Amino acid sequence: MMRSFLLGCILVLLVAGVATAVLGGGDITFSVSGAGNVLFSHENHAGSRKIGCKECHYKVFINRANHKTTTMAEMQTGRSCGTCHNGKRAFSVADPASCGKCHH
Ligand code: HEC
Ligand code: HEC
Ligand code: HEC
Repeated sequence: MMRSFLLGCILVLLVAGVATAVLGGGDITFSVSGAGNVLFSHENHAGSRKIGCKECHYKVFINRANHKTTTMAEMQTGRSCGTCHNGKRAFSVADPASCGKCHH
């Protein structure tokens, strides 16, 4: 009786752990002045698209505390999101039709 109660508790904890598991740095919001805020999703990059952590960490990004603010002009020269969002690997940071894919 006690044993199956404990097993039940462990199962509940395991399921809760899986349900709240966050991939990498999770969802990250960049507050932007002059355009809508931007949500970066680890799930959409390292998850469903299987982009390796090392492609971004730590050459392109470190963490929130060490964030280096980048302008769109800099991104268009291949920095930050523009490393990939260049119209070749992913939709371009320079394409007026794509602003709304990142800025909400
Ligand atoms: C496509 C690029 C990209 C990939 C791939 C990626 N990350 Fe990140 N990661 C980011 C960005 C962007 C940030 C925010 C950095 C900033 O604010 O300058 C970040 C931040 C983080 C943070 C810090 C969060 C915080 O609150 O400071 C952790 C931890 C992290 N990532 C882990 C991972 C792990 C683990 C993987 C692989 C499973 C991964 N990341 C893959 C782009 C990426
Ligand atoms: C791939 C995602 C992405 C796309 C596409 C994108 N942006 Fe951004 N943009 C960002 C991120 C992220 C920031 C914040 C950067 C930071 O804080 O380091 C930003 C910052 C900005 C800023 C404030 C900095 C600056 O350069 O003045 C403006 C304005 C802006 N974006 C406008 C635009 C416009 C207009 C477009 C379309 C032509 C666009 N963005 C396309 C991700 C994107
Ligand atoms: C290592 C390469 C890489 C970097 C760096 C990167 N992305 Fe992406 N991103 C991709 C690829 C590949 C796709 C999928 C191809 C496409 O949609 O054109 C994608 C798709 C997206 C999407 C569409 C997600 C969806 O599933 O609807 C958004 C939004 C996005 N990225 C935002 C960002 C922002 C914001 C940054 C910078 C903070 C960033 N990305 C940095 C590679 C990257």
